[in-house]
Amino acid sequence: PFIQPPQVEWASGALTKGPLLRKSTRIRDLIGIFADDPARQRLAGEHVVYDVEILATSPAEGELYTGVTHLYPGRVGDEYFMTRGHFHARREQGEVYFGLRGNGLLLLQNEQGQARLESVCAGSIHIIPGFTAHRLINTGSEVLSALAVWPGVAGHDYAALAKGFTLRVFEENQQIQVREAQNE
Ligand code: PA5
Ligand code: NI
Repeated sequence: PFIQPPQVEWASGALTKGPLLRKSTRIRDLIGIFADDPARQRLAGEHVVYDVEILATSPAEGELYTGVTHLYPGRVGDEYFMTRGHFHARREQGEVYFGLRGNGLLLLQNEQGQARLESVCAGSIHIIPGFTAHRLINTGSEVLSALAVWPGVAGHDYAALAKGFTLRVFEENQQIQVREAQNE
């Protein structure tokens, strides 16, 4: 007699029982995202960097979207795999991320270009305010999965970050190294 809502399997981040939209982002889609593009070109273009699954719910004003990102481990040159990253088209709209599995960083950057990094792990909660661009970075050797909830009206603005974030994260001597991005 009860409605069976969608479910997330906490351990894996798999969404089940919901009508889902799915999108895979591959090495060949991420031109100009990593510092070392020749290194990117040496990797297999079809290799999936991250998968996103979103519950197919209403995008109307006041409604919320729920989705899971699975960011695979790997590097382009010495730079860890990461999502493209974006501001919301409706800049004032925020978002919440919840770490589910794996280890990584959430790179947050305001419109003045000031950036900060939050550790992402199973159970971490990330409040992304409005006017803040966001990108996931997988610094571990396992899949990094995070659940996100954001306003249906938020939209994505990728173009505003065409010059990139001001920080980049690399592995150097098996250590996480944060560097200021070169003027690109
Ligand atoms: O809503 C979000 O911020 C996430 O679902 C992202 O869209 C997801 O992690 C993929 O990143 P991007 O949209 O930057 O490619
Ligand atoms: Ni977002």
